[in-house]
Amino acid sequence: MNHTNQVAEKYIESPYLMLNQVSFSWPCGKKALRNCNFSINSPGLWMLVGANGSGKSTLFKVISGLLKQDSGKVFCKSKPALVFQNPDHHLLLPTCSSDLLLSVPNHLNTETRMQRVQESLEQVGLAEMRSRPIHTLSGGQKQRLAIASAIASNSELLLLDEPTALLDPSSQNSVITTVKQLCSRPNNPLTAIWITHRLEELEHANGVAKMDDGMVHNFESGKKLRQLLHGLAVRRV
Ligand SMILES: Nc1ncnc2c1ncn2[C@@H]1O[C@H](COP(=O)(O)OP(=O)(O)O)[C@@H](O)[C@H]1O
Ligand SMILES: [Mg+2]
Repeated sequence: MNHTNQVAEKYIESPYLMLNQVSFSWPCGKKALRNCNFSINSPGLWMLVGANGSGKSTLFKVISGLLKQDSGKVFCKSKPALVFQNPDHHLLLPTCSSDLLLSVPNHLNTETRMQRVQESLEQVGLAEMRSRPIHTLSGGQKQRLAIASAIASNSELLLLDEPTALLDPSSQNSVITTVKQLCSRPNNPLTAIWITHRLEELEHANGVAKMDDGMVHNFESGKKLRQLLHGLAVRRV
């Protein structure tokens, strides 16, 4: 096999996200991640569940590069983009388009940048919202705008940390529908990892993994894990 073929094959076979024996402790000594080991090999919507303090948010901070692991390796095929529980924590400028422009690579010319803003709004169902002041958006629209920012920045790996925790059921539904569509679009389907406490959301996932005390278990079907977790909750009462 010549070098070009080897490179092409490596790219095709490389996972979308891979963690190899990743561990992390906070400076106070608290061990938050213990030998995390998993890989995601196709685009789609992947979910993480786990008790408070099990290490889910720390895992996202390590994957996104906000924190450096103490040991182990993280491989991301695309630049990761974080979406937080509270959309007000990542929306900065007064209108949808001005905020999105911040995320578009600034080496592009003005026309291309504005086109990228419009395309990103269309991808999340906010095509008409270009000039809308951000404070007039609903919680679900703000979360979809945050997802549009990730798209505008060319990210194909979304890390969503309880994105629906503060939303009403209809906004919750609009966000999950949007992410599912983006993860199954024909061109460049996204890879999304979604942390949730809402068991009903698990059925939308291509796979779900549980975190326990800094460890990530295997990815299972959403239905299977939902039944298992429901059983545990019932047994505890
Ligand atoms: N900034 C921090 N400094 C020290 N310990 C932290 C910090 N953030 C989180 N932790 C600890 O790390 C562990 C994992 O927390 P976290 O990743 O936030 O869990 P989760 O998102 O699953 O609720 C917990 O024991 C938590 O108290
Ligand atoms: Mg958390």
